[in-house]
Amino acid sequence: MPGGCSRGPAAGDGRLRLARLALVLLGWVSSSSLTSSAPSTSSTSFLASAVSAQPPLPGQCPQLCECSEAARTVKCVNRNLTEVPADLPPYVRNLFLTGNQLAVLPAGAFARRPPLAELAALNLSGSRLQEVRAGAFEQLPSLRQLDLSHNPLAHLSPFTFSGSNASFSAPSPLVELMLNHIVPPEDHRHNRSFEGMVAASLRAGHALRGLQRLELASNHFLFLPRDVLAHLPGLRHLDLRNNSLVSLTYVSFRNLTHLQSLHLEDNALKVLHNGTMAELQSLPHVRVFLDNNPWVCDCHMVDMVAWLKETEVVQGKARLACAFPEKMRNRALLELNSSHLECDPILPPSLQTSYVFLGIVLALIGAIFLLVLYLNRKGIKKWMHNIRDACRDHMEGYHYRYEINADPRLTNLSSNSDV
Ligand SMILES: *[C@@H]1O[C@H](CO)[C@@H](O)[C@H](O)[C@H]1NC(C)=O
Ligand SMILES: *[C@@H]1O[C@H](CO)[C@@H](O)[C@H](O)[C@H]1NC(C)=O
Ligand SMILES: *[C@@H]1O[C@H](CO)[C@@H](O)[C@H](O)[C@H]1NC(C)=O
Ligand SMILES: *[C@@H]1O[C@H](CO)[C@@H](O)[C@H](O)[C@H]1NC(C)=O
Ligand SMILES: *[C@@H]1O[C@H](CO)[C@@H](O)[C@H](O)[C@H]1NC(C)=O
Ligand SMILES: *[C@@H]1O[C@H](CO)[C@@H](O)[C@H](O)[C@H]1NC(C)=O
Ligand SMILES: *[C@@H]1O[C@H](CO)[C@@H](O)[C@H](O)[C@H]1NC(C)=O
Ligand SMILES: *[C@@H]1O[C@H](CO)[C@@H](O)[C@H](O)[C@H]1NC(C)=O
Repeated sequence: MPGGCSRGPAAGDGRLRLARLALVLLGWVSSSSLTSSAPSTSSTSFLASAVSAQPPLPGQCPQLCECSEAARTVKCVNRNLTEVPADLPPYVRNLFLTGNQLAVLPAGAFARRPPLAELAALNLSGSRLQEVRAGAFEQLPSLRQLDLSHNPLAHLSPFTFSGSNASFSAPSPLVELMLNHIVPPEDHRHNRSFEGMVAASLRAGHALRGLQRLELASNHFLFLPRDVLAHLPGLRHLDLRNNSLVSLTYVSFRNLTHLQSLHLEDNALKVLHNGTMAELQSLPHVRVFLDNNPWVCDCHMVDMVAWLKETEVVQGKARLACAFPEKMRNRALLELNSSHLECDPILPPSLQTSYVFLGIVLALIGAIFLLVLYLNRKGIKKWMHNIRDACRDHMEGYHYRYEINADPRLTNLSSNSDV
């Protein structure tokens, strides 16, 4: 784990620098008799609340944050905070903790006494979160919108959204959940698939049954785990843009009767199958977005083209175009008919590549053979000479005998010599 080892000291350094920065800022703030964050707070109560974790006083504001009681908003943005401020004001409804260095969100990271009963929108986007532990969002009874996007989430507890009491999970109040671009760099991932980890957190305890909007864009998803959507029956908007989905064959949309928009742009879809198309067609309100997928226009595309020509479900269907095979590239799907859509019977692409491979192997064997011949050239020369000599001897003998046999005058001699 070289990455893990080299990261430790660096993070320590950062924290030290941050602490120093905080001290400097604290000194500056108190000496300038508090002009910035908390308009209605005296500098003594500000210092008291910064030092201890006493119940917050109304009107106070955490260090490095900006608070507006009128707008019920607290912003601690681009401050390199390493933990969630302890003294969040109880009126907070919108909390922005974006652009920080939180790293880990422990259980009950927002649990306060009294609880933050009003907190409805929490934005943790781009705060370098690597780990979100079980029950991190516990005791936030009004939390409707949560944005965890742009964090390299290597560890996402299955009980992130359902609470840490695994045997009993109350429904989560979440309505909108943004998990865009949360895929960690390759070397920080576990054996277990990233898709599986995210899916487990969405499934746990059936807690997200009230969720209406789920964004999972830009996560390198290769597949959508089979039964995730069955646990999210309230979904109205599902965003899977900019992933690597190859097929939807094993995904069931059947029970998402409220689904209104399904974003599948910029994936790796090659074709939609009958089952998928029938399910999408049966949803009453859905709009599907399919742009920028590498559609393969061969005989398997016939059903999809027929469906596209009729359906109103697909938005911008005239823009959909073939990517393969080469001769069909950029042809609009809607303008194809079955006479264009054929499967090359001679060589499917996989076989073509295997022929190329075979050719390379044969060429290599040939080259090695020639090299061996070249290196052995002296021995081979000698061997050739030997053979030639042997042949010559033999041929001469033969020739000699032939001449003898052919010459009637010598026939007697030859028969004598044979004896
Ligand atoms: C946060 O950290 C980055 C790099 O470590 C630094 O460039 C930036 O100035 C810091 N921001 C604040 C508000 O301290
Ligand atoms: C969260 O904050 C980021 C960065 O400011 C912003 O781009 C994003 O739209 C916010 N999320 C929501 C749900 O408003
Ligand atoms: C889990 O919740 C149930 C129901 O509220 C409760 O009876 C049980 O004691 C809780 N378990 C733990 C470990 O907190
Ligand atoms: C990774 O796989 C190895 C063996 O396949 C296993 O021993 C180890 O516990 C796994 N690690 C994680 C984090 O799952
Ligand atoms: C698509 O996803 C990749 C990887 O997650 C990301 O680097 C890239 O910025 C995304 N592109 C867009 C247009 O969002
Ligand atoms: C859809 O819902 C029905 C009834 O609510 C249930 O029996 C079925 O298993 C669900 N199907 C899927 C794929 O979730
Ligand atoms: C797909 O459905 C169409 C029309 O319902 C049918 O003609 C076709 O045979 C089906 N294709 C497959 C592969 O089942
Ligand atoms: C298919 O398209 C070609 C040219 O685009 C046209 O000549 C042909 O009649 C079409 N066939 C059918 C069955 O529509």
